[in-house]
Amino acid sequence: MRFYLGIDIGTSGTKTLLVDEHGKVHAEAIAEYPLHQPKPGWTEQDPEDWWQATVSTVKSVLRSSKVNPAHVRAIGLSGQMHGSVFLDKKNKVLRRALLWNDQRTAAQCQEITQRAGGRAALVRMVANPALTGFTAPKILWFRQHQPKLFQRLAKVLLPKDEIRRRLTGEFASDVSDASGTLLLDVVKRTWSKKLLGKLDLDADLLPPVCESEDVTGTLSPAAAATLGLTTDCKVVGGAGDCAAGAIGNGVVKAGLLSTSVGTSGVVFCHSDQPQYDAEGRLHTFCHAVRGKWHMMGVNLTSGGSLQWWVDNVLQGLTGVGDAQRYEAATSEASAVPAGSGGLLFLPYLNGERTPHADPHARGAFVGLNLSHDRAHLTRAVMEGVTFALRDSLQIINSLGVPVREIRVSGGGSKNPLWRQMQADVFGRTVTTLAVEQGPAYGVALLAAVGDGTFGSIQQACDATITVAEKTKASKKAATRYAKLFPLYQRLYGSLQGDFEALATLQTS
Ligand code: XUL
Repeated sequence: MRFYLGIDIGTSGTKTLLVDEHGKVHAEAIAEYPLHQPKPGWTEQDPEDWWQATVSTVKSVLRSSKVNPAHVRAIGLSGQMHGSVFLDKKNKVLRRALLWNDQRTAAQCQEITQRAGGRAALVRMVANPALTGFTAPKILWFRQHQPKLFQRLAKVLLPKDEIRRRLTGEFASDVSDASGTLLLDVVKRTWSKKLLGKLDLDADLLPPVCESEDVTGTLSPAAAATLGLTTDCKVVGGAGDCAAGAIGNGVVKAGLLSTSVGTSGVVFCHSDQPQYDAEGRLHTFCHAVRGKWHMMGVNLTSGGSLQWWVDNVLQGLTGVGDAQRYEAATSEASAVPAGSGGLLFLPYLNGERTPHADPHARGAFVGLNLSHDRAHLTRAVMEGVTFALRDSLQIINSLGVPVREIRVSGGGSKNPLWRQMQADVFGRTVTTLAVEQGPAYGVALLAAVGDGTFGSIQQACDATITVAEKTKASKKAATRYAKLFPLYQRLYGSLQGDFEALATLQTS
C-alpha cells in the first residue's frame, strides 16, 4: 500500500494527515503555535515554530499509524497564504514572517498601485488590486522600515514553501499560492517580470513556480532522518490553503463552490478561465488544478470572530470547561430565532478584504436593546459572519459564474447551527461531505497525483470525495435573512468614516 502525507501550515497550528492510496485517512495530528501581535493590526509568526510543528506532527502520525515509513511515497504541502518569510544568503530567517491578516501595509499598497500605473494597469498585470494582506506590500514595507536587514534579503518564501526548503533544500512555489503574492501573472502562470521591474524588485528573490501536482524534490538526508522517512519520499508543489481546501472539498469543476470557515472565511469557486471582478472585490488566482483558475472572497475574521467572542468575552461566563465553551455558546444561540431579535454584527474585527478592502474596518454590534442576552449576541456574531460570506457569494452570482452546488466546510459545516444558518442566509440548499479534512487532505491528494496513483486531481477527487448530506433552507428563516441582509450591507457604508477615526485613535 502507498501512503501520502498532507501537511497544512495553518495560522493556529499545523495539521498533518496520513492518507493511503484510496484516500482513507490513517492518522491525524495537530500542533499549535503562538500568533504574535506586536501592535494593533500587526500579525507575525516565527517560521521555526512551523517547522517544529511539522516535525512533531509527522512523527506523531507515523507513530500512531504504525505505517512502514518506506511506504510513504510523497508529501503535499498547504499553508496560510501571503505570509512573508525573509531569508538571507545562508537561508537564515531575517525577521518574523508577516501574515495574511497583517494590516500594516496600506501605504505600500498605494505605492504599488501608483508604480504600476494605476489600479487598472495593476489588475492587467497580476489580475488583482493591491491589498494589505498580500505579499508584495510586505516586501516593500520591509525595504522601507528595516532597510539594513533588507540589504541582506536573498529570498522571499511563502509559509509552506519555507517548510519545503527545510524538507528538500529546494526553493519552489506552486501557482495557486504564488497568485497571492501579487507578483504572479495569474493568466500566464509565471512571475510578472513587468511588475517586479516597476517595483524595483529582483526576480531572483522569488523561487521557481510550478503546478500544484509537480514534484519539486525529495527529502534531504537530514530531513529524512529527522522525520523518520526515506530520501525517496517526494514533495509536490502543493497549494495555498484556500485552493487546497477546495480540492479537499472536491471543488475542481465548473459549477462547484465551497465556503470554508476557519480563522478566515473563504467563498471559493472553480473557473475554467481567468475571470475578473472589475471592481477588484474578489481575488482571481490560479487554481491548484492544472491550467484552471478560481475566484474567491475572503472575510478576515470568520471563525476568528466567534473565537474572539467565546474566548475573550464569554470566558468564564458559561460555567463550562474550555472544550465545551463553543458548544455551550452555539447551542444556546440555536434557541434564539433567526435574526437575533433585530441585532446585527459586523465581523470586521481586524479590518476586512471582501467586499470592503479596508484595513480600518472594525467590528460592531448594531441594534442592541434591553431584551438581548448572551445567546442573542452569540447568534448575531455567527449571522454577521454568514452575511459576510453571502456578500462574496452575491458578487460571484452577479458576475454570472454558474453555481450548481454549494459545499460548506470547516467550522461552518461541523457546527449544525452554522450549517443551517448558511443554507438560510444563502437561501439555498448546501451540501456537506462524508469525510471532510480540509486543506491537508487536498494536498495529500495532490501528492498522490504527483506520485502517479491518479492521472489527474479530478480523478483523485472523483475516487475519494462523496457528498453525504444536504441541508435545505428553511423558508421562514430565509425570508427573515433576506430582509436583514440589505440592512447589514448598508451598515458598513454608514460606519466607514467612524471606523477610520477610531482606528486612528487606537494607534495614535
Ligand atoms: C486567503 C487568506 C486566508 C489565509 C488563511 O487569501 O488570506 O484564507 O490563507 O490561512
